Amino acid sequence: MDEKDMGTDLAKVLISKDEIDAKLAELAERIDADYRGEDVLIVGVLKGAVMVMADLARTLHTPVTMDWMAVSSYGMGTKSSGVVRILKDLDTDISGKHVLIVEDIIDSGLTLSWLLSNLRSRGPASLEICALLRKPDAAKVDIDVKYVGFDIPNEFVVGYGLDFAEKYRNLPFVGTLAPHVYGG
Ligand code: XMP
Ligand code: MG
Repeated sequence: MDEKDMGTDLAKVLISKDEIDAKLAELAERIDADYRGEDVLIVGVLKGAVMVMADLARTLHTPVTMDWMAVSSYGMGTKSSGVVRILKDLDTDISGKHVLIVEDIIDSGLTLSWLLSNLRSRGPASLEICALLRKPDAAKVDIDVKYVGFDIPNEFVVGYGLDFAEKYRNLPFVGTLAPHVYGG
């Protein structure tokens, strides 16, 4: 799917495919350096992180194993409540392992801070986060995100795994939607 397939639904491309690729290469280089000689388990948070997981994993030289979690915020609407329910847990025992959580976007940070304490209680050797995107509100929650791709404005974004009503995940770039898509 590309810009043309979006017709008038696309407001603008915020981050192009080339910019994403270049950023993932940068992050992968840092991750390779930080985990030299270690085995790493990367944990993708479904569904949004599928693209980042797939592309980051292929850019890394570090041998990784991959696992997935699906979580859902109990809250209504588009705002995260911080009360999280596990829809799909990890298949693997992470105790003693070097775990790197891979996320598409951190907004309020509530989902991730819950996930961090949940995974930390399982006794991993180390636990870090890699997020492609971060919104300004994330700064209000005290979470240490070691690897961040882009700090973006407080706008709703789609593409590269991110959806609006389950659509637009398969865009190769990150963009914003025209108001009419939201019924505006
Ligand atoms: P927190 O708990 O950090 O929630 O507020 C993060 C989750 O909220 C979703 N989210 C978005 N999804 N475009 C999206 O498609 C956005 O702009 C956006 N902001 C937050 C996403 O599922 C993320 O994991
Ligand atoms: Mg997500």
